[in-house]
Amino acid sequence: MAGPGTTGPLTGKIAFVTGSGRGLGRATADKLAALGADVVIHDLDEAGPAKYGEAESLQDVARDIARHGARVTTVLGNIGDPAAVAEMSRRIVTELGTVDILVNCAGGDIGAEGGKPNPNSALDVALEDIQVETNNNLIGTLLVSQTFVRPMRDRGSGSVINIASTAAHVGNTPEVIYSTLKAAVVHYTRCLAAEMRPYGVRVNAVSPGPTKTARFQATRKTDPEMMVTTDSLMRYADPEEIADAVAFLAGPQAKFIHGQVLRVDGGRTLFPG
Ligand SMILES: NC(=O)c1ccc[n+]([C@@H]2O[C@H](COP(=O)([O-])OP(=O)(O)OC[C@H]3O[C@@H](n4cnc5c(N)ncnc54)[C@H](O)[C@@H]3O)[C@@H](O)[C@H]2O)c1
Repeated sequence: MAGPGTTGPLTGKIAFVTGSGRGLGRATADKLAALGADVVIHDLDEAGPAKYGEAESLQDVARDIARHGARVTTVLGNIGDPAAVAEMSRRIVTELGTVDILVNCAGGDIGAEGGKPNPNSALDVALEDIQVETNNNLIGTLLVSQTFVRPMRDRGSGSVINIASTAAHVGNTPEVIYSTLKAAVVHYTRCLAAEMRPYGVRVNAVSPGPTKTARFQATRKTDPEMMVTTDSLMRYADPEEIADAVAFLAGPQAKFIHGQVLRVDGGRTLFPG
């Protein structure tokens, strides 16, 4: 899908945002397109955006994002499946070109049955849930990074933003496996950053606090006082506020920021590190 072309700080860049059929990923893809990037949007399957009622299909989301004038294409598949990731890469290179900005956003505290694991505690969470969460949050991020960062390294430029969580930075129960895996994503960000430093490929992470995506609202009991849309810092985030942080790290204003983790949570977690 191609429009008249948006001019902005990311014009000429190609961005791949995993899990961008809905939620934070969609808000991020939309923001990057608004700043001029061509974007690849992605979900497990065509119906991913419909799961919590955000859109009918991935094609609908692509059409909506194309309103910015950017080139938009779609890819499908499980990020934990090497063959699926290789096919995503092949299609993206054929249809748009080499990816400059990679946002590893796909993931979440979703277990084998599709909702949150139950039980979800350290001692009782089921092996099946551990395996599915590890696939979705860690293995997928590793595989997608291996595939899309190699060409960045060879070219000597690129920007990677991994979406972690404030759950990565503090001991939690429940959501034990999710928190542990997001902590691994944070540390992988630092390790990949160390490896990529000589090549000029920047790698950073964003750790969102609780954010009002449709999935977030559908899978937990929300606090009405935190649902408000005001200038208060005592509330859940809007997806666009997380997208703004990702766009900053992706763009030229962050050109000397590398290996960092930005917590975007209105100050909910105020400790060092
Ligand atoms: N919403 C929040 O409060 C919050 C807070 C902190 C971190 N996060 C993180 O932000 C990211 C997006 O969360 P969201 O709230 O938008 O959730 P969401 O469920 O709406 O979006 C997640 C997307 O990732 C896709 N996905 C998941 N596993 C996949 C896999 N194995 N292969 C392909 N696609 C897969 C889903 O299909 C979906 O499109 C997640 O990594 C989540 O852990 C969210």
